[in-house]
Amino acid sequence: MKVLVIGGRGVIGSAVVELLSAQHQVLVGGRSSGDVQVDMTDPVSIEAMYQAHPDLDAVVVTAGHVPFKPLSQLTETDWQDGLNHKLLGQVRLVQSGARHLKAGAVFVLTSGLLEREHISGGSCASLVNAGLAAFVRSAAQELWGQARVNLVSPGPVAGDERGAAAFAGFMSISSEQIARSYLRALSQPLSGKVLEVFAEVTR
Ligand SMILES: NC(=O)c1ccc[n+]([C@@H]2O[C@H](COP(=O)([O-])OP(=O)(O)OC[C@H]3O[C@@H](n4cnc5c(N)ncnc54)[C@H](OP(=O)(O)O)[C@@H]3O)[C@@H](O)[C@H]2O)c1
Repeated sequence: MKVLVIGGRGVIGSAVVELLSAQHQVLVGGRSSGDVQVDMTDPVSIEAMYQAHPDLDAVVVTAGHVPFKPLSQLTETDWQDGLNHKLLGQVRLVQSGARHLKAGAVFVLTSGLLEREHISGGSCASLVNAGLAAFVRSAAQELWGQARVNLVSPGPVAGDERGAAAFAGFMSISSEQIARSYLRALSQPLSGKVLEVFAEVTR
């Protein structure tokens, strides 16, 4: 398969690119990094990217920003930013991709465990991740027979210090283990699935 990994130079994306490259032709996408430049916040950029690459078999998204702030400090701009970037950015990539790519295309999106577990400062991320899960289930139904859409929901990545304080007490998981869920979402005949990959032991 010819697979574009948007965010393929990031912490999770790098491991996904390495794993998928053993079996597939992989292109790396990003705003400025990689082989294919695309900005998931910009519908015009997304349309241009699909027009330039109509032969993609799959698009994996391992990108998406959300603000982490206490609820009392989240501004209107913060909410708009999180919704526009991580939620609508991935929605746009599926909606536009379904129009441009050939039948059988596969989309694999990224959410995170804050859909199910909650931390201080994570309310925007929880909203966005839950929205992505609902979107994937609904889009998979509408795109049945035309395209597959799945979602990987990772826990905090081992060694990524950026979120370590906010996720104090949570078990982290290696990016290599997380990458296997993307391979599974791509390779197995699944659609509308949320593949959770986190090491919670308290449930
Ligand atoms: N790290 C974690 O512990 C963790 C845990 C659970 C879930 N997640 C989720 O997993 C996803 C990836 O996280 P990460 O930590 O691996 O990311 P990261 O290391 O911060 O890398 C982000 C990647 O996305 C690309 N990117 C950023 N903005 C973009 C845009 N507007 N359009 C296209 N590409 C863009 C960047 O490349 P350019 O700079 O070239 O654009 C970069 O390659 C995020 O949605 C995050 O919420 C992360």
